[in-house]
Amino acid sequence: MWPYPRVLAHRGGGKLAPENTMAGFASGFALGFAGVEFDVMLARDKVPVVMHDPYLGRTVNGAGHVYDYDAHELARMDAGSWFSRAYAGERVPLFDEVVSFCRRHAIWMNIEIKPAPGHEEETGRVVAETTRSVFAEEIAQRGAGAIPLFSSFSETALDAAMVAAPDIPRAILFKAVPPDWELVADRIGAVAIHCNHNYLTPEAAQAIKAAGYGLLCYTVNNPARARLLAGWGVDALCTDRLDLIPPAFLTA
Ligand code: G3P
Ligand code: MG
Repeated sequence: MWPYPRVLAHRGGGKLAPENTMAGFASGFALGFAGVEFDVMLARDKVPVVMHDPYLGRTVNGAGHVYDYDAHELARMDAGSWFSRAYAGERVPLFDEVVSFCRRHAIWMNIEIKPAPGHEEETGRVVAETTRSVFAEEIAQRGAGAIPLFSSFSETALDAAMVAAPDIPRAILFKAVPPDWELVADRIGAVAIHCNHNYLTPEAAQAIKAAGYGLLCYTVNNPARARLLAGWGVDALCTDRLDLIPPAFLTA
């Protein structure tokens, strides 16, 4: 059973606002999204920040890698101008800021641990430790639906998260679901499989559901495709098209 929202705003606000910015999270919330996916990595001083790419240049004005800067330096950088001039004041958010915003608005979080290459273990550990301390009360009450779900393409990061915060559930991210998916999922104690919908087959979806795992697809932007996937047993999806696939799309 999937105790979480079924449609998540990808990278905060999908394509309606600059990804992984507070403006993005605010625009998803304004459209009624009660679930969100976003990406977290570590700055040089080991403070987690919300960012997708491990380097500057695409979404953030500047050069070099995220890991070359301390969090307070990243938090001053422009993460909105690339999207449009109207968002020029947007900054790289700290993980703490995003978590506070989501908690304040009761938005459930799929926290994608996105380590810079070579920093898998420490990123998994730090993100898990931080999340665990913020959600101590919910974890003690075993409020499954309120506790975030970690996901990552990195098994090493998920291993570290499992050690640091065993009570926070984990999902393994695949582009295409590999033949040994169950072995991997079992090893890291995953509760769900997250995969690219373009490579999912109805047979794989059925096998994953029959084995008792949750199943989330990224990034689904076509409503007809979303319906088809739901028919295969897919529990949830994240979307960039908050305008086409609204929060209640799969439950209505
Ligand atoms: O977590 C699902 C999805 O966000 C994974 O891909 O590159 O958009 O982070 P990416
Ligand atoms: Mg992501």
